[in-house]
Amino acid sequence: MYYPTYRMRRLRRTPLLRRMMRETSLAPDDFIYPLFVSHGENVRRPITSMPGCEQLSIGNLLPEVREIYRLGIPAVILFGIPSHKDSAATSAYDAEGVVQLAIRAIKDEVPDLVVVTDVCLCEYMDHGHCGVVQNGEIVNDVTLELLAKMAVSHAEAGADIVAPSDMMDGRVAAIRSALDDEGYTDAIIMAYSAKFASSFYGPFRDAAESPPAFGDRKTYQMDPANGEEAVREALLDIEEGADIVMVKPALPYLDVIKAVKQETKFPLAAYNVSGEYAMLKAAAANGWLDERACVLEALTGIKRAGADLILTYHAKDAVHWLEQEY
Ligand code: PBG
Repeated sequence: MYYPTYRMRRLRRTPLLRRMMRETSLAPDDFIYPLFVSHGENVRRPITSMPGCEQLSIGNLLPEVREIYRLGIPAVILFGIPSHKDSAATSAYDAEGVVQLAIRAIKDEVPDLVVVTDVCLCEYMDHGHCGVVQNGEIVNDVTLELLAKMAVSHAEAGADIVAPSDMMDGRVAAIRSALDDEGYTDAIIMAYSAKFASSFYGPFRDAAESPPAFGDRKTYQMDPANGEEAVREALLDIEEGADIVMVKPALPYLDVIKAVKQETKFPLAAYNVSGEYAMLKAAAANGWLDERACVLEALTGIKRAGADLILTYHAKDAVHWLEQEY
Protein backbone atom coordinates (compact mmCIF):
# COMPACT_ATOMS: atom_id res chain seq x y z
CA MET A 1 0.00 0.00 0.00
CA TYR A 2 1.34 3.34 -1.03
CA TYR A 3 0.31 6.96 -1.12
CA PRO A 4 -2.35 8.18 -1.64
CA THR A 5 -4.16 5.18 -0.08
CA TYR A 6 -1.70 5.02 2.73
CA ARG A 7 -0.70 8.20 4.55
CA MET A 8 1.85 8.01 7.40
CA ARG A 9 0.77 11.41 8.69
CA ARG A 10 -2.68 10.09 9.73
CA LEU A 11 -1.27 8.67 12.93
CA ARG A 12 0.63 11.85 13.77
CA ARG A 13 -2.29 14.26 13.55
CA THR A 14 -3.02 15.06 17.23
CA PRO A 15 -1.07 14.91 20.48
CA LEU A 16 -3.17 12.04 21.82
CA LEU A 17 -2.82 10.01 18.64
CA ARG A 18 0.93 10.54 18.85
CA ARG A 19 0.93 9.38 22.46
CA MET A 20 -0.98 6.24 21.46
CA MET A 21 1.51 5.47 18.73
CA ARG A 22 4.63 6.15 20.81
CA GLU A 23 6.86 3.05 20.90
CA THR A 24 9.27 4.19 23.59
CA SER A 25 8.53 6.06 26.79
CA LEU A 26 10.78 7.24 29.58
CA ALA A 27 9.94 6.89 33.25
CA PRO A 28 11.74 7.65 36.53
CA ASP A 29 12.23 3.88 36.93
CA ASP A 30 14.67 3.95 34.03
CA PHE A 31 17.21 6.14 35.78
CA ILE A 32 20.23 5.67 38.01
CA TYR A 33 21.60 8.94 39.37
CA PRO A 34 25.40 9.28 39.86
CA LEU A 35 26.67 10.95 43.03
CA PHE A 36 30.20 12.01 44.01
CA VAL A 37 30.83 11.45 47.71
CA SER A 38 33.70 13.38 49.20
CA HIS A 39 35.60 12.82 52.43
CA GLY A 40 35.45 15.66 54.93
CA GLU A 41 32.73 17.73 56.57
CA ASN A 42 30.39 20.23 54.97
CA VAL A 43 31.78 19.76 51.49
CA ARG A 44 29.73 21.06 48.58
CA ARG A 45 32.12 21.53 45.67
CA PRO A 46 30.51 22.34 42.31
CA ILE A 47 32.03 20.54 39.32
CA THR A 48 32.74 23.25 36.75
CA SER A 49 32.51 21.09 33.64
CA MET A 50 29.32 19.39 34.88
CA PRO A 51 26.95 22.23 35.83
CA GLY A 52 24.40 21.04 38.40
CA CYS A 53 26.69 18.30 39.79
CA GLU A 54 28.69 18.62 42.98
CA GLN A 55 31.06 16.69 45.19
CA LEU A 56 29.22 16.28 48.50
CA SER A 57 30.30 15.07 51.89
CA ILE A 58 27.99 12.59 53.59
CA GLY A 59 26.03 15.18 55.60
CA ASN A 60 25.17 17.06 52.42
CA LEU A 61 24.53 13.87 50.48
CA LEU A 62 21.60 12.76 52.62
CA PRO A 63 19.12 15.56 51.73
CA GLU A 64 20.07 14.97 48.10
CA VAL A 65 19.35 11.27 48.40
CA ARG A 66 15.97 11.95 50.05
CA GLU A 67 15.07 14.24 47.14
CA ILE A 68 16.08 11.59 44.58
CA TYR A 69 13.93 9.01 46.36
CA ARG A 70 11.00 11.43 46.56
CA LEU A 71 11.25 12.04 42.82
CA GLY A 72 10.78 8.32 42.23
CA ILE A 73 14.29 7.62 40.95
CA PRO A 74 14.95 4.09 42.23
CA ALA A 75 18.75 4.05 42.39
CA VAL A 76 21.94 6.03 42.85
CA ILE A 77 25.49 5.07 41.92
CA LEU A 78 28.25 6.24 44.22
CA PHE A 79 31.75 7.42 43.31
CA GLY A 80 34.19 8.17 46.12
CA ILE A 81 36.68 10.98 46.59
CA PRO A 82 38.86 9.56 49.38
CA SER A 83 41.16 11.51 51.67
CA HIS A 84 44.07 9.26 50.85
CA LYS A 85 45.42 7.64 47.67
CA ASP A 86 48.27 5.13 47.47
CA SER A 87 49.70 2.43 45.19
CA ALA A 88 47.52 -0.36 46.62
CA ALA A 89 44.24 1.62 46.70
CA THR A 90 43.84 0.76 50.39
CA SER A 91 41.04 3.29 50.92
CA ALA A 92 38.99 1.47 48.25
CA TYR A 93 38.30 -1.53 50.51
CA ASP A 94 38.52 0.13 53.92
CA ALA A 95 35.38 -0.55 55.98
CA GLU A 96 35.58 3.12 57.08
CA GLY A 97 36.20 4.39 53.53
CA VAL A 98 34.14 7.26 52.17
CA VAL A 99 31.87 5.08 49.99
CA GLN A 100 31.38 2.45 52.69
CA LEU A 101 30.35 5.17 55.19
CA ALA A 102 28.06 6.76 52.60
CA ILE A 103 26.31 3.45 51.87
CA ARG A 104 25.57 2.94 55.57
CA ALA A 105 24.32 6.51 55.97
CA ILE A 106 22.05 6.23 52.91
CA LYS A 107 20.67 2.86 54.04
CA ASP A 108 19.85 4.40 57.45
CA GLU A 109 18.12 7.35 55.83
CA VAL A 110 16.25 5.75 52.90
CA PRO A 111 16.54 1.97 53.25
CA ASP A 112 14.53 1.25 50.08
CA LEU A 113 16.68 3.25 47.70
CA VAL A 114 18.82 0.94 45.58
CA VAL A 115 22.47 1.70 46.19
CA VAL A 116 24.88 0.90 43.38
CA THR A 117 28.63 1.33 43.82
CA ASP A 118 31.31 1.83 41.22
CA VAL A 119 33.98 -0.82 41.77
CA CYS A 120 37.20 0.56 40.34
CA LEU A 121 40.53 1.47 41.82
CA CYS A 122 41.39 4.62 39.84
CA GLU A 123 39.97 7.07 42.38
CA TYR A 124 42.00 5.39 45.13
CA MET A 125 45.32 4.84 43.34
CA ASP A 126 48.03 7.52 43.52
CA HIS A 127 48.73 6.94 39.81
CA GLY A 128 45.04 7.09 38.77
CA HIS A 129 44.99 3.78 36.86
CA CYS A 130 42.21 1.25 37.34
CA GLY A 131 44.60 -1.55 38.30
CA VAL A 132 47.83 -2.31 40.11
CA VAL A 133 50.89 -0.91 38.31
CA GLN A 134 54.11 -2.93 38.12
CA ASN A 135 57.02 -1.74 35.94
CA GLY A 136 54.78 0.72 34.17
CA GLU A 137 52.19 -1.95 33.26
CA ILE A 138 48.66 -2.36 34.57
CA VAL A 139 48.72 -5.96 35.80
CA ASN A 140 45.50 -7.91 35.56
CA ASP A 141 45.49 -10.82 37.99
CA VAL A 142 46.81 -9.06 41.09
CA THR A 143 44.19 -6.37 40.53
CA LEU A 144 41.35 -8.91 40.71
CA GLU A 145 41.99 -9.57 44.39
CA LEU A 146 41.71 -5.89 45.24
CA LEU A 147 38.53 -5.48 43.18
CA ALA A 148 36.99 -8.49 44.92
CA LYS A 149 37.88 -7.04 48.34
CA MET A 150 36.40 -3.71 47.35
CA ALA A 151 33.14 -5.29 46.13
CA VAL A 152 32.81 -7.35 49.32
CA SER A 153 33.38 -4.26 51.48
CA HIS A 154 30.59 -2.47 49.59
CA ALA A 155 28.21 -5.41 50.02
CA GLU A 156 29.11 -5.61 53.70
CA ALA A 157 28.21 -1.91 54.08
CA GLY A 158 24.82 -2.61 52.44
CA ALA A 159 25.23 -1.96 48.72
CA ASP A 160 22.57 -3.68 46.62
CA ILE A 161 24.50 -3.63 43.34
CA VAL A 162 28.24 -3.55 42.71
CA ALA A 163 29.33 -2.25 39.33
CA PRO A 164 32.88 -3.11 38.27
CA SER A 165 34.15 -0.48 35.81
CA ASP A 166 37.84 -1.37 35.72
CA MET A 167 37.81 -3.60 32.58
CA MET A 168 40.26 -6.18 33.95
CA ASP A 169 39.72 -9.69 32.52
CA GLY A 170 38.03 -12.11 34.91
CA ARG A 171 36.82 -9.49 37.39
CA VAL A 172 33.18 -10.54 37.31
CA ALA A 173 34.03 -14.15 38.19
CA ALA A 174 36.44 -13.02 40.91
CA ILE A 175 33.86 -10.67 42.42
CA ARG A 176 31.00 -13.22 42.20
CA SER A 177 32.99 -15.91 43.98
CA ALA A 178 34.25 -13.51 46.68
CA LEU A 179 30.71 -12.23 47.31
CA ASP A 180 29.31 -15.76 47.49
CA ASP A 181 32.11 -16.94 49.80
CA GLU A 182 31.26 -14.12 52.20
CA GLY A 183 27.54 -14.91 52.07
CA TYR A 184 26.46 -12.02 49.82
CA THR A 185 24.69 -14.29 47.36
CA ASP A 186 22.00 -11.64 46.75
CA ALA A 187 24.43 -8.87 45.87
CA ILE A 188 23.82 -7.97 42.22
CA ILE A 189 26.65 -7.44 39.72
CA MET A 190 26.13 -4.80 37.07
CA ALA A 191 29.20 -5.16 34.86
CA TYR A 192 30.53 -2.28 32.81
CA SER A 193 30.94 -4.89 30.06
CA ALA A 194 31.56 -2.74 27.02
CA LYS A 195 33.42 0.22 28.44
CA PHE A 196 35.20 2.13 25.72
CA ALA A 197 38.42 4.16 26.05
CA SER A 198 36.41 7.31 25.46
CA SER A 199 37.37 10.97 25.50
CA PHE A 200 33.86 11.72 26.70
CA TYR A 201 34.95 10.84 30.28
CA GLY A 202 36.93 14.09 30.52
CA PRO A 203 34.62 16.00 32.88
CA PHE A 204 34.19 12.94 35.13
CA ARG A 205 37.93 12.70 35.70
CA ASP A 206 37.83 16.25 37.07
CA ALA A 207 34.79 15.37 39.16
CA ALA A 208 36.30 12.19 40.60
CA GLU A 209 39.88 13.53 40.63
CA SER A 210 41.00 10.38 38.83
CA PRO A 211 42.95 11.15 35.64
CA PRO A 212 45.80 8.67 35.00
CA ALA A 213 49.18 10.18 35.92
CA PHE A 214 50.86 8.52 32.93
CA GLY A 215 49.70 6.92 29.70
CA ASP A 216 46.04 6.22 29.01
CA ARG A 217 43.49 3.47 29.61
CA LYS A 218 43.69 1.87 26.15
CA THR A 219 45.25 -1.41 27.32
CA TYR A 220 42.15 -2.21 29.34
CA GLN A 221 39.23 -0.11 28.05
CA MET A 222 37.88 -0.95 24.59
CA ASP A 223 38.75 0.57 21.23
CA PRO A 224 35.81 2.81 20.20
CA ALA A 225 35.88 1.21 16.74
CA ASN A 226 34.84 -2.25 17.95
CA GLY A 227 31.24 -3.42 18.07
CA GLU A 228 31.58 -7.20 17.77
CA GLU A 229 34.15 -7.23 20.54
CA ALA A 230 31.63 -5.41 22.74
CA VAL A 231 29.19 -8.27 22.28
CA ARG A 232 31.94 -10.78 23.20
CA GLU A 233 32.76 -8.78 26.34
CA ALA A 234 29.12 -8.83 27.40
CA LEU A 235 28.75 -12.57 26.75
CA LEU A 236 31.89 -13.29 28.77
CA ASP A 237 30.65 -11.19 31.70
CA ILE A 238 27.37 -13.10 31.63
CA GLU A 239 29.27 -16.41 31.67
CA GLU A 240 31.17 -15.11 34.69
CA GLY A 241 27.99 -14.19 36.55
CA ALA A 242 26.94 -10.65 35.62
CA ASP A 243 23.26 -9.92 36.33
CA ILE A 244 23.14 -6.70 34.33
CA VAL A 245 25.48 -5.68 31.51
CA MET A 246 26.43 -2.13 30.61
CA VAL A 247 27.49 -0.18 27.55
CA LYS A 248 29.40 3.04 28.14
CA PRO A 249 29.31 5.78 26.82
CA ALA A 250 25.77 5.79 25.42
CA LEU A 251 25.10 8.27 22.61
CA PRO A 252 28.07 7.53 20.31
CA TYR A 253 27.45 3.78 20.89
CA LEU A 254 23.72 3.30 20.23
CA ASP A 255 24.51 0.54 17.72
CA VAL A 256 26.48 -1.28 20.43
CA ILE A 257 23.56 -0.98 22.86
CA LYS A 258 21.28 -2.48 20.24
CA ALA A 259 23.66 -5.32 19.35
CA VAL A 260 24.42 -6.25 22.98
CA LYS A 261 20.72 -6.26 23.83
CA GLN A 262 19.85 -8.41 20.83
CA GLU A 263 22.65 -10.90 21.43
CA THR A 264 22.34 -11.25 25.20
CA LYS A 265 18.67 -10.55 26.03
CA PHE A 266 20.03 -9.55 29.44
CA PRO A 267 19.04 -6.46 31.42
CA LEU A 268 21.11 -3.69 29.88
CA ALA A 269 22.25 -0.40 31.35
CA ALA A 270 23.71 2.44 29.31
CA TYR A 271 25.89 5.15 30.82
CA ASN A 272 25.12 8.62 29.46
CA VAL A 273 28.53 9.90 30.51
CA SER A 274 29.89 13.20 31.76
CA GLY A 275 31.00 14.47 28.33
CA GLU A 276 27.60 13.77 26.81
CA TYR A 277 26.06 15.74 29.69
CA ALA A 278 28.57 18.59 29.41
CA MET A 279 27.92 19.05 25.68
CA LEU A 280 24.19 19.56 26.13
CA LYS A 281 24.65 21.74 29.20
CA ALA A 282 27.14 23.97 27.40
CA ALA A 283 25.00 24.33 24.29
CA ALA A 284 21.92 25.05 26.40
CA ALA A 285 23.79 27.64 28.49
CA ASN A 286 24.69 29.43 25.27
CA GLY A 287 21.09 29.40 24.13
CA TRP A 288 22.03 27.19 21.18
CA LEU A 289 19.84 24.21 22.09
CA ASP A 290 16.60 23.71 24.01
CA GLU A 291 17.88 21.74 27.00
CA ARG A 292 14.62 20.08 28.01
CA ALA A 293 13.73 18.94 24.50
CA CYS A 294 17.24 17.77 23.66
CA VAL A 295 17.79 15.88 26.91
CA LEU A 296 14.49 14.01 26.61
CA GLU A 297 15.21 13.24 22.95
CA ALA A 298 18.70 11.92 23.79
CA LEU A 299 17.46 9.76 26.67
CA THR A 300 14.58 8.43 24.56
CA GLY A 301 17.10 7.52 21.86
CA ILE A 302 19.19 5.56 24.36
CA LYS A 303 16.13 3.67 25.52
CA ARG A 304 14.90 3.07 21.95
CA ALA A 305 18.29 1.54 21.12
CA GLY A 306 17.69 -1.12 23.79
CA ALA A 307 18.72 0.20 27.21
CA ASP A 308 16.55 -0.87 30.14
CA LEU A 309 18.37 1.44 32.53
CA ILE A 310 20.16 4.74 31.98
CA LEU A 311 22.84 6.12 34.27
CA THR A 312 22.53 9.84 33.73
CA TYR A 313 23.37 13.17 35.38
CA HIS A 314 20.16 14.49 33.75
CA ALA A 315 17.96 12.14 35.83
CA LYS A 316 16.51 14.69 38.27
CA ASP A 317 15.76 17.25 35.55
CA ALA A 318 14.32 14.56 33.31
CA VAL A 319 11.90 13.43 36.02
CA HIS A 320 10.69 17.00 36.51
CA TRP A 321 10.19 17.40 32.78
CA LEU A 322 8.42 14.05 32.44
CA GLU A 323 5.93 15.14 35.08
CA GLN A 324 4.91 17.82 32.61
CA GLU A 325 3.71 16.76 29.19
CA TYR A 326 6.27 16.12 26.46
C1 PBG B 1 36.19 4.73 36.36
C2 PBG B 1 34.98 5.39 35.82
C3 PBG B 1 34.97 6.40 34.87
C4 PBG B 1 33.63 6.71 34.66
C5 PBG B 1 32.88 5.92 35.49
N1 PBG B 1 33.73 5.08 36.18
C6 PBG B 1 36.07 7.12 34.22
C7 PBG B 1 37.15 6.46 33.51
O1 PBG B 1 37.12 5.28 33.18
O2 PBG B 1 38.11 7.17 33.26
C8 PBG B 1 33.16 7.76 33.69
C9 PBG B 1 31.82 8.34 33.94
C10 PBG B 1 31.52 9.57 33.20
O3 PBG B 1 32.30 10.07 32.35
O4 PBG B 1 30.44 10.12 33.44
N2 PBG B 1 36.12 4.36 37.64
